Amino acid sequence: MSKLPNATASIFSVMSQLANKHNAINLSQGFPNFPVDERLLQIHERLLNENIHQYTPMAGLPSLLNKIASLTNKNYQREINTDTELLITSGATQGIFTTINALVNYGDDVLILDPSYDSYEPSVLVAGGKPVRISLNDDYSPNFNRIEAAITAKTKLLIINNPHNPTGKIWNEQDFEALETILEKYENILLLSDEVYEYISFKHPHISVNTRPKLINRAIIASSFGKSLHVTGWKVGYLIAPEPLMKEIKKVHQFLVFSVNSTAQHVITKYLDIVNFDEISTMYANKRALFLEGIQSSCFKILPSEGTYFQVVNYSEISNKNDVEFAKELITKYGVAAIPISVFYKDATDKKMLRFCFAKTDETLINAVKILNNI
Ligand SMILES: Cc1ncc(COP(=O)(O)O)c(C=O)c1O
Repeated sequence: MSKLPNATASIFSVMSQLANKHNAINLSQGFPNFPVDERLLQIHERLLNENIHQYTPMAGLPSLLNKIASLTNKNYQREINTDTELLITSGATQGIFTTINALVNYGDDVLILDPSYDSYEPSVLVAGGKPVRISLNDDYSPNFNRIEAAITAKTKLLIINNPHNPTGKIWNEQDFEALETILEKYENILLLSDEVYEYISFKHPHISVNTRPKLINRAIIASSFGKSLHVTGWKVGYLIAPEPLMKEIKKVHQFLVFSVNSTAQHVITKYLDIVNFDEISTMYANKRALFLEGIQSSCFKILPSEGTYFQVVNYSEISNKNDVEFAKELITKYGVAAIPISVFYKDATDKKMLRFCFAKTDETLINAVKILNNI
């Protein structure tokens, strides 16, 4: 019997393939189409001839672990023990899968807030757990009454994602306080915080679980160098978790991956000396402004977005087709690819919303805007 009977080709692949077939501008999948930082390429070229091609230690290259510890200290004033609380992973995806499979037992409930990133539920199913999907509010803020009502004796893990894919929502101080008040009552519930877009926030800074003393003892935090350094194909990320949880996570990691791509780890280690993470939000804020100003007078209704490189729009003034059909039409008839938001819900809730990715060259965005304005 299949462990994932309902898994099909992901909507991201489907839309990208359709976009390629119709030569459409691809604002669907979440990856940059602009060049990688020249300095990163130079480090890569320089190091390739050095002795960087064999297994690194299982948890990661020690120099990279130290750099991440410094970064975490600088950004979030959290001291982490690199021996016991940190693990380099093959992207956040593997970090999330490994966390869930190390910590969720057969029959455990895992709370997932909808709409949500598509890798959470399959990871829970492979672990033998039960995904419990809870809708966010209409403005995509967390609904704590629903979250608390869903908690049972079987609840093992709550997954949160901030800044949020697909909606761009970022939790505020009150949201975290509300979460802390609930979790104080349930000491066995763990928290998986997916923070892959931690460096992309526009209105107010992203609040990391790394800065929440009431949460860190039960929290596993996932980060992604793919997202933060615009090298999604390198698939390097990391997890931070307290020692007892990390011990279990490493047990699974060592048999799933053992050690992550050595070349990428060495190059990133050196690049971390020169990269300025503060510039990332500004760069994306400019792209977002270009895109939003461009479609402001179009028939698409722009929803507030506080972070990530995604923008959600409502198209109900243009069409009453469901969002998957409309996204296909947008490719085949008009030549722009987006992701329908219903695919991020368990029950395919269709609110006539599309997600555009603006991590693209200005030229791509300008061309897309021209088309979208004429629809
Ligand atoms: C919310 C979220 N989490 C995790 C990931 C996966 O990150 P990585 O490419 O590092 O595996 C993505 C990628 O799109 C994402 O949007």
